[in-house]
Amino acid sequence: MNYKVLLQSAKGLLSSEPTNLSLLSNATAFLNDSITDLNWVGFYMFKDGILTLGPFQGKVACNLIMPGKGVVGTSYQKNEVIVVKNVHEIDNHITCDPVSMSETVVPIRYGGHVWAVLDLDSPIENRFDPELVDFLQQFGALIENYIDFERPLI
Ligand code: SME
Repeated sequence: MNYKVLLQSAKGLLSSEPTNLSLLSNATAFLNDSITDLNWVGFYMFKDGILTLGPFQGKVACNLIMPGKGVVGTSYQKNEVIVVKNVHEIDNHITCDPVSMSETVVPIRYGGHVWAVLDLDSPIENRFDPELVDFLQQFGALIENYIDFERPLI
């Protein structure tokens, strides 16, 4: 996978979205189309003390996650990228779809705080190799760059 080329396409896409909602929605569609072996990709947005389901691609998912709970809530609380090679081997994992085997969560930050997290699940164990994780971090940085945090979603 040529992540450099993919980032260039992502830049073209994310730089021309009319609203934050369309940006986040197309971001999930782009990742779902471009990265093989994903069964879920989407955002959890921090609002009123809880992570709330945002735009995503995949099956119906858990809609509210408390900070500190699961991989999503832990990434939020620690304000760091979390990569889990096998979700069945950790205790603090929320099973939305039992097919998921590995997971990566990337914080989207604004003013030093986590504004949302980007969550990706794969049915393949250890799907998120260092090159893919690096790409996802750069993709997250692009979102931070193009979102207008001062505006509502739509
Ligand atoms: N597995 C996540 C929950 C969200 S779903 O994967 C869509 C977690 O442990 O936080």
